[in-house]
Amino acid sequence: MESKLEEGCCVVACERPLDAAYWDAQWKSNTIGWDLGMPAPPLVSLIDSIENKSVKILIPGCGNAYEADYLVSKGFKNITLIDISETACAILKVKFLNQSAVRVLCKDFFKLEDTFDIIIEQTFFCALPPSLRLRYVWKMHNLLNANGILAGLLFNRAFEVGPPFGGSREEYEKLFYGAFEFENIETATNSVEPRANMELFFSFVKNNLVMVNLYSFEGITCAGCKNSVTEIYSKIVGVKNVNMSSDFREILIVTDEEISINELREGIAYDKEYKIEKSPAVKL
Ligand SMILES: C[S@@+](CC[C@H](N)C(=O)[O-])C[C@H]1O[C@@H](n2cnc3c(N)ncnc32)[C@H](O)[C@@H]1O
Repeated sequence: MESKLEEGCCVVACERPLDAAYWDAQWKSNTIGWDLGMPAPPLVSLIDSIENKSVKILIPGCGNAYEADYLVSKGFKNITLIDISETACAILKVKFLNQSAVRVLCKDFFKLEDTFDIIIEQTFFCALPPSLRLRYVWKMHNLLNANGILAGLLFNRAFEVGPPFGGSREEYEKLFYGAFEFENIETATNSVEPRANMELFFSFVKNNLVMVNLYSFEGITCAGCKNSVTEIYSKIVGVKNVNMSSDFREILIVTDEEISINELREGIAYDKEYKIEKSPAVKL
C-alpha cells in the first residue's frame, strides 16, 4: 500500500553525520515527515495497560512527544523527554511549561545518566545510524531499573536510504537476545494506515542477571573476519550473545559472568591488527 507519510527526512546530504546539527536542520526546516500528529495507536494501547501512574518513564528521541500528552492526560506523574535538537526541545518546553509531570532534556540520549522503569521507543531506533545499534542496546540496558521495560514500535521493513533505517524481527531478536527477555514482538495490529503491517510492537524486560558490555574493536575489514571473531567469543563459557556493529568498530557481549579483557584479547591474538578495548566514548 502507498505510504501517505513521508518517512524520509533528508533535507541535506544523507552522508552527513546524524548529529545534533543534522537533526536540528530537519526541525528548523520543518522536514519532520515521521511526525504522526498524534500518539501511535499501539503506544496508546501500551500506555493504557500500565496501571502504576508513578512509574518513571523515558521517551528518547521524542520529537513532538504526543505520547507524553497522552501520558499526562492519563495521570502519569514522572515523564522524561529527551531530544538532541534544540528546536524540538524549545517546542516541547513551551508545550509542557506548566506541566510538572514532564521534564524536557535537550541532550544526546547516549550521554544521559539516569534510570527509568519504562522506556518508550517510537522511531528513535530507526533514526540512528545502524552502526549505533549495539550501543542502543547497551545504553537501554544501563538506563533501566531492575525488571525495567523497553517497549514500543520498530520498523519491520527495509528502506532504500536512511534515516529511517529499517530492520526485521530476526535482526532485532539477534540484537537484543540475552540482555532482554522478549515479552512480546509481533506485527502491530493497530498501526496508523501508512505503517500497517510494517511495524512490530515489542515489549522487552531487562535481564538483571547478565552483564552487558560494549567494546571498541579495531582491525576488521570484512564480514568473514567479523564472523570468525564473533564465533570465537560466542564459544567462551558464560557468553550468551555476541554482536559486532555494521562498521566493525564495536562489539557487544552479553555474559552470565565477568569475562576479563585479557581473555578477550587472547581470543584474537592470532591477528596482530585486532585490538579490543572496553566501553569507548560516544561517536556520532
Ligand atoms: C525520526 S524522529 C522521531 C521523533 C518522534 N519520536 C516521533 O516519532 O515523532 C527522531 C528524533 O530523534 C532525535 N534524535 C536523533 N538522535 C538523537 C540522539 N542521539 N539523542 C536524542 N535525540 C536524538 C531527533 O532530533 C528527532 O527528533
